[in-house]
Amino acid sequence: MSAEFPYVRPRRLRQSPAMRRLVAETRLHPAELILPLFVREGVSEPVPVTSMPGVVQHTRDTLRKAAVEAAEAGLGGVMLFGVPAVQDAVGSEGTNPDGILQQAIRDVVSEVGDALVVMSDLCLDEYTDHGHCGVLAADGSVDNDATLERYAEMARVQADAGVHLVGPSGMMDGQIAVVRRALDEAGHQDVGILAYTAKYASAFYGPFREAVGSSLKGDRKTYQQDPANAREALRELEQDLAEGADLVMVKPAMAYLDILRQVADASPVPVAAYQVSGEYAMVEAAAANGWIDRERMILETLTSIRRAGAQQILTYWALEAARML
Ligand code: PBG
Repeated sequence: MSAEFPYVRPRRLRQSPAMRRLVAETRLHPAELILPLFVREGVSEPVPVTSMPGVVQHTRDTLRKAAVEAAEAGLGGVMLFGVPAVQDAVGSEGTNPDGILQQAIRDVVSEVGDALVVMSDLCLDEYTDHGHCGVLAADGSVDNDATLERYAEMARVQADAGVHLVGPSGMMDGQIAVVRRALDEAGHQDVGILAYTAKYASAFYGPFREAVGSSLKGDRKTYQQDPANAREALRELEQDLAEGADLVMVKPAMAYLDILRQVADASPVPVAAYQVSGEYAMVEAAAANGWIDRERMILETLTSIRRAGAQQILTYWALEAARML
């Protein structure tokens, strides 16, 4: 029958905005968007990140204001990254109870802690002078187990500062277990873990390095995943779940939508995705040249990430997207 005449006309459901809205399978909601924010120690004015037009390294003061804006826009949360004035081999400022990130956590929690989930990056690359996510062994390699001890200490100081969720992003083996144990032993049973579960060694992080003043010379291929591999993402998922992850994340987002779908299908806990700096910078650069429709591109990329299985999305456009919705 349908071979003779087009009785079946999918276009009927596309004919008007009202019809399209009725049948849309995927919706974005501000409550599921998370805004990454950078706070830099010792600056009196926000410092623009040139590789990410529209993104700044905040002062403590403008960070508070940004957090209030995020709460007023109805966002789900903020993810805080600290940019310390001093870096050293072991990333001492990351475990200083009065380090910039810990101060920022206290500021933001006291300002909007009831309205937003406050999250913090738990990683050493912002704090080390060599730029790696961990501490180095004598031969220059990243020492997994020595790094875990640093992460445990970071988890304690961040939780003491009042953070709701820590985000271990360093891809060390065993990091979720060690962080969970450190939190529990310090009486922070209620502080949760947003695990960077499938995190790839990606060129898409390029602009972020400027945002956190990271001076990495080599690469992170001995700890972040190879873009060629999907299977190990599921192994990382199993491991993070067994170690006590409360939410799991795939990162980057757009070039890894297949991974996101597989993780979403297998995960019993909420699955987040991180639309990273390079994804942001590509769209901003193309839009600045007049080559694409910026707002449509923002909503289309976010919708695609949501459709592929992410429930929560970290995006530098969170505020703007929330206002568009
Ligand atoms: C590590 C971390 C990175 C990003 C978030 N957490 C950098 C890296 O792993 O190289 C990248 C985020 C982005 O590119 O937007 N602390």
